Amino acid sequence: MANQVKARLISNKKVGSYHHLIFAGDGIATGVRPGHFAAVAVGDENSPMILRRAFSIHKAAEITSRGSTLELIVAAHGPGTSWLVAQQEGAIIDVVAPLGKPFALPKTPANCLLVAGGYGSAPMVYLAQELIARGCKVDIIFGAGTESKLFDVLEAKRLARYFEITTDDGSVGTEGRVSTAMPAMMAKGETEAIYACGPMPMLQSVADLASKSNIISQCAVEESMACGIGVCMTCVLPVIGDDGITRMVRSCTDGPVFRGDKVRWDEIGTVPADCLGAPKSGGH
Ligand SMILES: Cc1cc2nc3c(=O)[nH]c(=O)nc-3n(C[C@H](O)[C@H](O)[C@H](O)COP(=O)(O)OP(=O)(O)OC[C@H]3O[C@@H](n4cnc5c(N)ncnc54)[C@H](O)[C@@H]3O)c2cc1C
Ligand code: FES
Repeated sequence: MANQVKARLISNKKVGSYHHLIFAGDGIATGVRPGHFAAVAVGDENSPMILRRAFSIHKAAEITSRGSTLELIVAAHGPGTSWLVAQQEGAIIDVVAPLGKPFALPKTPANCLLVAGGYGSAPMVYLAQELIARGCKVDIIFGAGTESKLFDVLEAKRLARYFEITTDDGSVGTEGRVSTAMPAMMAKGETEAIYACGPMPMLQSVADLASKSNIISQCAVEESMACGIGVCMTCVLPVIGDDGITRMVRSCTDGPVFRGDKVRWDEIGTVPADCLGAPKSGGH
């Protein structure tokens, strides 16, 4: 059950290319699990920006000296995110959380590989902590276009058994994509489960590599969202169900975490002809 909270922005710090925002408010952390997202209202009362913006939850804490807190990592992208990162500490902002379905955690201890691209690393330390608390071994690969787009490297390095960085421009770590580093890491860590968050092409390559090794991957997708609560169908993508039938499902309520082998990555943005309810070609 999501809570709508008029939250106080108690910290807004620039970290590399991103802003680390901390909100405080009664109930803001209630029920949050790694993989959940928050929907944040942007703009003032008369703003034309009527839609909330979605962000992965970086951290949530029920009991701190500042009350319940929720943390987000925000990249200034368009008008909504630019407004948000420009807010001063003390601002009151309307936040709805937790939304979506979180990452599923293994029932028994497992070797887990966490892979993130850019601000996709936002929920990963939180996830790593939960996995380690369950006795799992956690290996981590963080990738980004360039060094300033990496986030939470020190914390991830501290928690991980094996840790690697890739950057497209080689400014730090191995030059290349996360998928370049994955095979060796999977062999070294004897990976049994993969968790991923980042841009869609990255998720597709992670899911493909996982499937080739018969490993289940869980991918937190980033589809454009409007309502964030399952009403508008803006965020649908084709996913194969347990019955083998493809359906257009809502990433805001059925996701954002999906099994990588169930998403029809090549057909995102389309309604595949064999999808349940797809329009029949040639019909009148
Ligand atoms: C589940 C989820 C988790 C996300 N986590 C993060 C995060 O941790 N950090 C971060 O910086 N960004 C994250 N995003 C992306 C963030 O929501 C978009 O960058 C933001 O909505 C863009 O709004 P804008 O007004 O700045 O840009 P505009 O492009 O002007 O946005 C216009 C509209 O399109 C929608 N939209 C545009 N791009 C996206 C997008 N990539 N995803 C969803 N909706 C979009 C917005 O809701 C808005 O209504 C996440 C998105 C999703 C769906
Ligand atoms: S964003 Fe409206 S249904 Fe998902």
